Amino acid sequence: MKKTNIGVLISGSGTNLQSIIDKAEAGDLPVNVACVISDREKAYGLERAKKHGIPAVFVDRKGYALREAHEDAIIGVLDKYNVELIVCAGYMRLLTHHIISRYRNRIINIHPALLPSFPGTDGYGDAWRYGVKVSGCTVHFVDEGCDTGPIILQGINPVDNDDTFESFRERGLAIEHRVFPEAIKLYCEGRLKIEGRRVRILDKE
Ligand code: GRF
Repeated sequence: MKKTNIGVLISGSGTNLQSIIDKAEAGDLPVNVACVISDREKAYGLERAKKHGIPAVFVDRKGYALREAHEDAIIGVLDKYNVELIVCAGYMRLLTHHIISRYRNRIINIHPALLPSFPGTDGYGDAWRYGVKVSGCTVHFVDEGCDTGPIILQGINPVDNDDTFESFRERGLAIEHRVFPEAIKLYCEGRLKIEGRRVRILDKE
C-alpha cells in the first residue's frame, strides 16, 4: 500500500507522536511521518522526531500578529513536505478556518476524553474532577469548533475505585497510543466515510 505523508502538529511531550513513529517503523502503519511541527520550542516531541531523522520544525506563534499568518507559516512547511494528512497530537492551539478549509477532512485530532464531554485543554483533569466512572479518548476530524468534528474512534477508560489521577491518566494515555494509530490507519486505507456527523467505517476490501 502506498504510504500516506503525514505532518504531525505538537506542543508537548509527544508520546502520541512516538506511538505513531514506532508503529510506522514496525510496518504496522502505512504512513511516512514527513515532518513534525511544534508551536513550542522546548517541546520534547521535536527531539523525538530528530532521533528518528524526521524534520522537526518550530514555528513560533510570537513571530506573527495574526493566527492566520502563523498558520500560513505552518502551511508552508506542510507544502514543503507534501503532507496529505495533518495529525494533531497534543497541539494546544485551535486551528482556524484558514487552514481547516484548505485541508478539509484531512486534519485529525486526539482528545483525552469521551467527546462531547469535557472538550478543551484539560480533558483528563476535567473528567477526573467531575468524578466520571468511564472516560477515554476520542479521535475526530477537525472542524472550526473546539473538539466538535465528526468522531472516528473512541477508546474506553473505566475509572477504578483505587485510581489516582496519575494512574487514570497513565492508563488513558496508553489507550490513546493504541487508538490514535488505529484511526490513522483507517484513514490511510480509505475506510472513513463522513456522513454528516457520523463517520462510517467501511469494511476492508
Ligand atoms: C494527549 O493527552 C492528547 O490527547 C492531548 O494532549 C496530550 C498530548 O500528549 N490532546 P503527548 O504530547 O502525545 O504525550
